[in-house]
Amino acid sequence: MRAVVYQGPFSVAVEEVPDPEIMHPNDVIVKITSSCICGSDLHMYEGRTAAEPGIVFGHENMGIVEDIGSAVKTLSVGDRVVMPFNVGCGFCKNCQRGFTGFCLTVNPGFAGGAYGYVAMGPWRGGQAEYIQVPYADFNCLPLPSGDAFEWDFSLLADIFPTGYHGTELADVSPGESVAVWGAGPVGLMATYSCIIRGAAEVYTIDHVQERLDKASEIGGIPINFDDGDPVEQIRDMRGGDGVDKTVDAVGYQAAAQGSSAAGGEQTEIPNVVLNQMIDLINPTGIMGIPGLYVPSDPGGVDEGAKRGSLAINFGKLFEKGLKLGTGQCNVKQYNAYLRDLIISGKATPSFVVSHEVPLDDAADAYDKFDKRIEGYTKILLKP
Ligand SMILES: NC(=O)c1ccc[n+]([C@@H]2O[C@H](COP(=O)([O-])OP(=O)(O)OC[C@H]3O[C@@H](n4cnc5c(N)ncnc54)[C@H](O)[C@@H]3O)[C@@H](O)[C@H]2O)c1
Ligand SMILES: [Zn+2]
Ligand SMILES: [Zn+2]
Repeated sequence: MRAVVYQGPFSVAVEEVPDPEIMHPNDVIVKITSSCICGSDLHMYEGRTAAEPGIVFGHENMGIVEDIGSAVKTLSVGDRVVMPFNVGCGFCKNCQRGFTGFCLTVNPGFAGGAYGYVAMGPWRGGQAEYIQVPYADFNCLPLPSGDAFEWDFSLLADIFPTGYHGTELADVSPGESVAVWGAGPVGLMATYSCIIRGAAEVYTIDHVQERLDKASEIGGIPINFDDGDPVEQIRDMRGGDGVDKTVDAVGYQAAAQGSSAAGGEQTEIPNVVLNQMIDLINPTGIMGIPGLYVPSDPGGVDEGAKRGSLAINFGKLFEKGLKLGTGQCNVKQYNAYLRDLIISGKATPSFVVSHEVPLDDAADAYDKFDKRIEGYTKILLKP
């Protein structure tokens, strides 16, 4: 089959790889109908992780069950399904408590597994024609048959639940004011989730205009950090007040004010978002941090950053009595509920999708998405 294979920094290619097979009676093989490119893929694409050439990318996968193992109970050939980016076993201590992003058995020696991602276990990615799904009863979310809501449902693999997770970590509640850093797919989904949860005011911070425009479309208040310190901009708009809650949907590759929005040489300040959140949030607030931070970064801006060690204003955090939550999204905690919001017409996350392209055009799509040009915000690959 054809699959998107990592070649090295800033290079992917569509290559022939062996077809996946049923390896265990609990597996299914899914024929991919849509697989999305994620901002998380860009960390590998840019050579900012330990990823080695040869990885088949793709953790945001949906499709049709093509083949089933003999022990699979709840699925049949022909079923339409979407898989959480996390691979979970369903029976370990963490999966049992709902923390499927921290499964203890699918990636031995590590808490958490995923498809097509460095250090996340042996699970091949789905930017391909087919994917092997282990513990399929646990890892496949059934969808209504047909092709309705394809774009919306494809976002259930990661970014809709992950944006929602940011608001859950921050316990966003009706009537609150929230600031979301990042208007990438995850930040837009966090903004959208704040609105779904009844937040009164949501400020969305970025410096890519098309992305800020998408935030305004759904009721966010856009803040361009190239126009000045976002903390000051928001305080000015609020008569000096801060916000109740914050969400970091940027992570460690955070750009400095005034750095190019079009990729290339960006000036990076890995702790800028964390410290701005601590600055802006009101005392006793809660900060949700789905944006990725890594314990080792070959391209880190200094020795500390290379070890994932960042200076944050912990004194201020303590003085304000703040709480924070971090980590991989446990997609399975939310995906069935978010699916039902889509089906009932109460959520339409597909507003974030900017491009649907053939799998064979993956190299070009990665390049443009990485440069954040031509409105490349969220891309679906079609095998
Ligand atoms: N926790 C999880 O389970 C999980 C899942 C998916 C993605 N992620 C992470 O979430 C983050 C966002 O993912 P994405 O797909 O939206 O990525 P993305 O790279 O498309 O979006 C990030 C956005 O942040 C903006 N940005 C950069 N510096 C900024 C700053 N200083 N202030 C405000 N905005 C700034 C960028 O312009 C960009 O639009 C990534 O770190 C990704 O790895 C985490
Ligand atoms: Zn993703
Ligand atoms: Zn488990």
